[in-house]
Amino acid sequence: MREKILKITKLKNKKRLVCLTAYSKNIATILDDYCDIILVGDSMANVLYGMENTHKIKMETIINHAISVSKGIKKSLLVVDMPKGTYKNISEAVKNARIILKKTKCDAVKIESNNNNFRIIKKLVTLKIPVMGHVGYTPQFTKKFKVQGSNKTDSQRILTEAKKIQSAGAFSIVLECVKSETSKKITKILKIPTIGIGSSKECDGQILVTDDILGLSGFYPKFVKKYVNLKKIIKDAVISYSKDVIKKKFPRRKNSY
Ligand code: KIV
Repeated sequence: MREKILKITKLKNKKRLVCLTAYSKNIATILDDYCDIILVGDSMANVLYGMENTHKIKMETIINHAISVSKGIKKSLLVVDMPKGTYKNISEAVKNARIILKKTKCDAVKIESNNNNFRIIKKLVTLKIPVMGHVGYTPQFTKKFKVQGSNKTDSQRILTEAKKIQSAGAFSIVLECVKSETSKKITKILKIPTIGIGSSKECDGQILVTDDILGLSGFYPKFVKKYVNLKKIIKDAVISYSKDVIKKKFPRRKNSY
């Protein structure tokens, strides 16, 4: 297993994994010192491109953002989401994962589980393509948002799915919007690190969409903590600039040639 991946897996039960999304070099450069994993998520469909869901984001678009992000990363593990429709079968998955790895130089790809693509994960891992799994709420396959693992049957279903993903060789797994007790159980049973989003502190690590924690996206469900209101900070800066331009206060002599 690649060195960087091994380092992440060894952190289970030792240090909480800090993970965030990035879609550009500038943001990745800031995150890199503080994150274990940086994900170029297909959430960019909603967050950046204003799409209704993640279903139509193109692989080419994700690759272009990942190339930008990779330029800002020195130490974090770079994971790139495989968009919907790019891993429908083994041969498509292998072909597309190889393109993503080659073009972006990422360390791993992330695949959402549809409870049926374990063989795809296994094949990729056999070909030395590291895979991060993703269970619970999986936006590529689930139409309506719903908290996952709320009853015994559902909890058992997710646990079984997570175990199969681990057996297929994934090095870590995202648990999205999974009930605390279920996350706790899965995290305890699995040997690979679990990374929660809306899945309680019971996971081995946490991931959030960076635009959400910065107050840029306007998307604030219960599981998001807004650490700063960047929207307001940017707005204030733009208002000041606009006033300066109108009043001819900018540019000054020092800004001119
Ligand atoms: O696309 C994404 O950003 C994700 C995270 C929310 C886990 O999959």
